[in-house]
Amino acid sequence: MMSDGRTVFGIHMQQARDSRRGRVRTLAIVAACQVAGAVIAFGCAILLSKAADITIPPPGVLLAWGLAASAIGVRAGLARWWPVLQTCFPLAAGIGIWLQLPAWTYLTAFGLLLATQWNAARGGVPLFLTNRRTHEAIKEILPDRRDIVVADIGSGLAGTLLSLADAISDGQFIGIETAPLPFVLSWLRVLASGRSRRVRLIFGDYRHQDFSAFDVIYCFLSPVPMSEAHAKASREMRPGTILISNSFTVPGHPADAIVSVSDRRGTQLHVWRF
Ligand SMILES: C[S@@+](CC[C@H](N)C(=O)[O-])C[C@H]1O[C@@H](n2cnc3c(N)ncnc32)[C@H](O)[C@@H]1O
Repeated sequence: MMSDGRTVFGIHMQQARDSRRGRVRTLAIVAACQVAGAVIAFGCAILLSKAADITIPPPGVLLAWGLAASAIGVRAGLARWWPVLQTCFPLAAGIGIWLQLPAWTYLTAFGLLLATQWNAARGGVPLFLTNRRTHEAIKEILPDRRDIVVADIGSGLAGTLLSLADAISDGQFIGIETAPLPFVLSWLRVLASGRSRRVRLIFGDYRHQDFSAFDVIYCFLSPVPMSEAHAKASREMRPGTILISNSFTVPGHPADAIVSVSDRRGTQLHVWRF
């Protein structure tokens, strides 16, 4: 048996088990919310019809189902993106049935979702993108150093890398991404930008990369992998290098600096100096 403190291939086993348990728990909560939402929505629709002779049209019941499921999910502490998905699930299923879509459309939709949101269920990190104002704020944080090497771990569609490469003419910008579709799209985007000599993309898991190769690591992940990513950065990054996390903190390791971005979502960049 593995002891709790054991590290295998650089992954702390207790943390890995905790995050696996966390994901199973999240999916169980999502399923329970959907069931509870359905009971509430259909229950209310039947009650209204029997008691007051009011008929709620099917889209209304489906919307109520989704909204009830998301409200319960929020109370249960689900992350911010779940309410949107929870609301859409019943409506999307209803639209699919109403349109009598052939089976392959469900498979294609599932494939597209899997290809873009590869890490959402696996690692608790969905795809969402850093905005322009935050790109500008990151540029201000970067050390003024020639030949700087900047990595975006979980590079999405490579927007952050390309924006930084535009501003800094002599740096190297490395993106690491495991989700297949974002990787292919970002690869095409980099190719089209003519910056493929300075912006390089690696298809793979950042947890298997050597962080000592980078002067700056930027990440926009989720609360789930932050402790592990910070621990890896602390072990491997060289003195004088920095880790920047968009929005997500590390419990027990307050950042050395916090930069507030004047965007609509009130982004905060957490900066650790090693
Ligand atoms: C929130 S998006 C951020 C995208 C990009 N960094 C940006 O700021 O626009 C997070 C990305 O990290 C990727 N990701 C999550 N875990 C990863 C891992 N272990 N290795 C590589 N990429 C990962 C996801 O697929 C997703 O595209």
